[in-house]
Amino acid sequence: MNTFASYLAGELPKIETCLHDHVATLNPYVKPMAEHVLQAGGKRLRPVLTLLCARALGYSGGDPYPLACSLEVLHSATLLHDDVLDGSELRRGRPAAHTLFGVGQSILAGDALLALANVMIASYNVPPLMVCLSQAILNTASGEVQEIARVRDVTMDMQGYLDIITGKTACLIQSACEAGALLAGASPELVKAAADFGMNIGIAFQLVDDALDYSSPKEVSGKPKGADIREGKLTLPLIFYLESLDDAGRERFTKAFKENTLQESELESTLVAINAGGFVERTRDMAASYIQDAGRCLAAFPTTPETSLLYAALEGMAKRDK
Ligand code: IPE
Ligand code: IPE
Ligand code: MG
Ligand code: MG
Repeated sequence: MNTFASYLAGELPKIETCLHDHVATLNPYVKPMAEHVLQAGGKRLRPVLTLLCARALGYSGGDPYPLACSLEVLHSATLLHDDVLDGSELRRGRPAAHTLFGVGQSILAGDALLALANVMIASYNVPPLMVCLSQAILNTASGEVQEIARVRDVTMDMQGYLDIITGKTACLIQSACEAGALLAGASPELVKAAADFGMNIGIAFQLVDDALDYSSPKEVSGKPKGADIREGKLTLPLIFYLESLDDAGRERFTKAFKENTLQESELESTLVAINAGGFVERTRDMAASYIQDAGRCLAAFPTTPETSLLYAALEGMAKRDK
């Protein structure tokens, strides 16, 4: 087991207990949905990043778990909403909440979890923490809206794609790291270094996710393979693929994609072509370059065991398959 994985394993019981205790305070009509999404597991990446950034920057005060777990509650809220928006039926290896509890119920349970996260953060009585996390909620929602507005928009380019993934995913991971630094009472320079670190790994994280969507079987990822192309999402492997086609090929493909008339056999052969053409790999290469940038942000951190664990997290992120 690598060092990051063993640190995570040591922290997990405390993270799970804290999540459980807060979910237990919810209204009995909301609780089953919150439990459904939160008890299905998940990598708990965001809370562990908050803990590591806080401790790497010298935090040794009171209980950091409600803050760390507020990030997971917030993340889980966005998953409830995201699966409704995307019409996804599988999440964390389980049926998505809206398929069991209904769309309206799941959306409102997501809203309740967003509010619960705010309550957890407010208990620290540190206004910059409230700003940091509220900014994350704002950016996540804006990124999700932007992505939905551009479904099947074949004019999507690299910049449009990066704007979307920055908003919908990277800003929350940025806030997870920044919140840890704020909790530690770090200097403005170190708070910025933690935020920049989080932004870079956040972008890398979604790039890897978009590569995995084309390459990882659902038994491993807990999500169906090829979901993005079926949902009309122009993520980077598909953008690279479109760029590689000749004009006639691109014209034919984009027309069918835009009109959502691609046959199942064409979707399957496109998945194969995207893997064979090296576009999944190129997406992962780009993630690797953001991971390198994240490593450079850590150069400002003091030399602590937790800083080493943050470097170890970067290695794991480059290789992840779920
Ligand atoms: C899923 O996030 C949503 C994305 C931002 C891609 P994770 O891959 O961290 O999901 P869990 O928490 O491990 O289920
Ligand atoms: C990830 O969205 C970002 C959020 C959940 C806000 P995606 O739609 O790309 O992620 P998956 O594939 O459903 O996990
Ligand atoms: Mg989704
Ligand atoms: Mg989505």
